[in-house]
Amino acid sequence: MIKKIAVLKGDGIGPEVTEQSVKILKAIAEQFNHQFFFTNALIGADAIDKTGSPLPSDTIDICLDSDAILFGAIGHPKYDNDPSAKVRPEQGLLGLRKALQLYANIRPITTYPALNFLSPLKSKNIEHVDFVIFRELTGGIYFGKKELSEDGQIASDDCLYTKSEIERVAHPAFKAAQQRRKKLTLVDKANVLETSRLWRKVVQEISTQYKDVTVDYLFVDNAAMQIILNPKQFDVILTENMFGDIISDEASVISGSLGLLPSASVGTSTALFEPIHGSYPQAAGKDIANPLGSILSAAMLLDHLELKEEAALVRAAVTWTINNKFVTKDINPINFYFTSTVGELVIDFIKTNFEDKINIENIELRKSTII
Ligand code: IPM
Ligand code: MN
Repeated sequence: MIKKIAVLKGDGIGPEVTEQSVKILKAIAEQFNHQFFFTNALIGADAIDKTGSPLPSDTIDICLDSDAILFGAIGHPKYDNDPSAKVRPEQGLLGLRKALQLYANIRPITTYPALNFLSPLKSKNIEHVDFVIFRELTGGIYFGKKELSEDGQIASDDCLYTKSEIERVAHPAFKAAQQRRKKLTLVDKANVLETSRLWRKVVQEISTQYKDVTVDYLFVDNAAMQIILNPKQFDVILTENMFGDIISDEASVISGSLGLLPSASVGTSTALFEPIHGSYPQAAGKDIANPLGSILSAAMLLDHLELKEEAALVRAAVTWTINNKFVTKDINPINFYFTSTVGELVIDFIKTNFEDKINIENIELRKSTII
């Protein structure tokens, strides 16, 4: 299979975690006789420094011309504390989502028994938690009209949704539920917001086409509590843009580290794959960030390209590193492995595809791992 992959490394730890995923995708290509062609493109603060724009038009062109996009992270502290900045790195990601119409953001929340101890939640509550958040990504308050009065005293952000925007993300969420445990929870604030009432109406209508899926509805404040109290109850969560942003970060504490979680953003053109963590500037360039969120995003990319066996192998490799405690500093602050070492270990597993060919003693010495 020949595929073109756009690589948008972005800011902070984006480059170093994305480099691991690129190495791994190259190893997969070699192992399974595929040809993947990678093209780098600029985005975020890095793109502002180099071109003045957080989303140069070249970047959009490269993405449109690719079969998939691997995305790192964006954001830089110099913009975070400057509300008056006219150009911001985040505009790069938001602009790309809009330009590519990436309307469905899919964030799976899984747990690894070996890491249950990391979660602030009790182990018995998080064992076997497995749900997926479908977050609408190109509408709502993120993209509504924004205003600031001339005297700087009044600001507003409109929240707007159309029926078709809700439908186009609801269908894939229902389809996912059909393939899973057949339950869909709509998270909204229908007791207060008109847009939420439209979401409920549209989802109720659509649900008649998916009779095998049980639908329930939760207000977002209650959902925030339920995710912590009893996360096992969820299968597919469907929600609008900002609620999805907030509850997906919240849900990441179930897995134990934000660094572990991948995501896929799909729409009408090229799909994009990115870890849900941000640019984590404090760790940038230190080779300590967790690359697994990016690597698992690469696995979702492979799934999207219908390379199921390849995706499963990457996931098996990730689980193997976790079970053997080959983990980064966020997971084990005392005895940790570097970002690049974890990437190499995943590749070793992919190349041997057989655990006992890997020389554990060499790994302990941080040396070459394959006999
Ligand atoms: C995310 C991020 C983005 C968002 C930011 C960087 C604009 O938090 O992908 O969840 O809010 O959507
Ligand atoms: Mn977020």
